[in-house]
Amino acid sequence: MEDLKFNVLRLLSEKYDFISGEKLASELGVSRTAVWKAVKSLRSRGYSIEAVPRRGYRLVKTPDVIFPQEIKRGLRTRVFGRKIVYFEEVASTNDVAKELASQGAPEGTLVIAEMQTRGRGRMSREWFSPRGGLWFSIILRPDMTPGEVPLLALMLGVGVAKALLREGLRCHLKWPNDVLVDGRKVCGILTELDAEMDVVNYVIGGIGINVNNEVKDFPMEFRHLATTVKAELGRKVSRVVLLKHVLEELERTYDGLNEKGGSVVLDEWRRLSSTLGKRVRVVTHGRTIEGLALDVADNGALLIELENGRIEKIISGDCLHVGKI
Ligand code: BTN
Repeated sequence: MEDLKFNVLRLLSEKYDFISGEKLASELGVSRTAVWKAVKSLRSRGYSIEAVPRRGYRLVKTPDVIFPQEIKRGLRTRVFGRKIVYFEEVASTNDVAKELASQGAPEGTLVIAEMQTRGRGRMSREWFSPRGGLWFSIILRPDMTPGEVPLLALMLGVGVAKALLREGLRCHLKWPNDVLVDGRKVCGILTELDAEMDVVNYVIGGIGINVNNEVKDFPMEFRHLATTVKAELGRKVSRVVLLKHVLEELERTYDGLNEKGGSVVLDEWRRLSSTLGKRVRVVTHGRTIEGLALDVADNGALLIELENGRIEKIISGDCLHVGKI
């Protein structure tokens, strides 16, 4: 039924004119009753589909859903989002993406869900993922060593921030890749890696963007730390359009990384980041390090100057801006 619904939608949206139930049924090799059921199911998701006796069905209006059909329509990428696995509800898109990647799914495969029941954040935290947001994972198969992967985490942040800027949102990046608006988090990224000693098998870029979901629905303890695109712009945005922009920006940034090397990504990250020049406190492997955020190293690690003048290189951790120096 899931597939049939998407196929009916594909045929209707190719034409935006009446197609008879009979034609739909014969093209898809199903009964007219099955077509009718698929139309009913699409209507229940917000699609406005006109049905006129002897003329058939016509797609009138498309809701803000993230069905694969909608994502692919007009998507300007070669690889990212070319294969899409969609869920109404799933535990975690990262878990599904890992499973698919280990079975050989190609680079760029997108796993996306309307909501997650066990969304995961960095540092084993939960990630609140109700309807209205964009919760998705992308499979990457980079030609790099495990030590270079932190650079990919920065690259993902750059891609998302650029797409949000295109939407008119004045956002910046907190190391490594939280996307913030006025200090509040609008997007979090969880990068997970499967590698051998010196070869990366795959990387999962798990991205969660608070889009049209409500800040008031966040668990109390996060409410003052989080924001949404809708709250910042004062209007709902089309999730599908935003997602297409994210996929396009991610692919462009990833291509830049592969063709020209890491320095391109690092320069963009520096430009978009609000971490550099700030006093930061980073918790890493149970240690807390405080100092001035100087720069990022070639592999994306954060360089912090301590009180005593020593420079620490932090590969991963939780970073807090504690003020300007
Ligand atoms: C963070 O802690 O900032 C990272 C949050 C990452 C959330 C995204 S939502 C899609 C993907 N699936 C998950 O379970 N987590 C990531």
